[in-house]
Amino acid sequence: MKLINLLESKGERMNMFDILAPWYDEVRKVIEFGEVKEINREIKKIGKNCQKPLKVLDVGGGTGNHWDIESSEILNLYIVDRNRAMLNECESGANLVHGDVHCLPFEDDFFDIVMCLDALHHFQDRKRSLNEMERVSKTGGYIFVADFDPNHILTKMISIGEIILGEPGRFMKTETLEKFFQKRDYETEKIDFTHYFYLLKSRKF
Ligand SMILES: C[S@@+](CC[C@H](N)C(=O)[O-])C[C@H]1O[C@@H](n2cnc3c(N)ncnc32)[C@H](O)[C@@H]1O
Repeated sequence: MKLINLLESKGERMNMFDILAPWYDEVRKVIEFGEVKEINREIKKIGKNCQKPLKVLDVGGGTGNHWDIESSEILNLYIVDRNRAMLNECESGANLVHGDVHCLPFEDDFFDIVMCLDALHHFQDRKRSLNEMERVSKTGGYIFVADFDPNHILTKMISIGEIILGEPGRFMKTETLEKFFQKRDYETEKIDFTHYFYLLKSRKF
């Protein structure tokens, strides 16, 4: 496992993930809604037609619990997270980058797939993070965003809990996210699997 450290000297303040990190994978098993299976299925489909390993970026990827060894062997996987404790729990064999999604340390048009799972609502500036995801994504590449639907009561409760714990707790509507990508000439597809958690697949042309 290789860890590229971009934040150590910036004196990051402690947040809820410092405390949660050792138990995160266990907690995540309980709050997994089927999105991991859906994304892995999509990635396998995309990978089928590719000769080279896909370059995949997982932003706010945390402990990387959703990546199995099998997929990390066929992918060139990078996980960016600003929380060192979460990355320390990662056993996926990915390239780990201790960095910030608002300022991704990659050149333009670099990744075949960018994904952001249960993380967008933790970012301080969601538009800027989306712009960064878009910037590093190749033309013809895919961006997957999965998050809680803000209209659902469960999301409203999660939001209150997270705000108390010092997180932004701001959830984006699927329609807003779709508009963001469509304005930039992406084709979007909402993959439905549950009514309180969405998965949006966007492809750049
Ligand atoms: C709820 S966890 C999701 C982890 C993983 N994607 C999953 O689905 O299990 C949210 C993650 O986003 C990370 N995060 C929050 N703000 C970030 C930022 N500005 N840059 C990078 N990562 C960030 C947190 O440290 C945390 O690991």
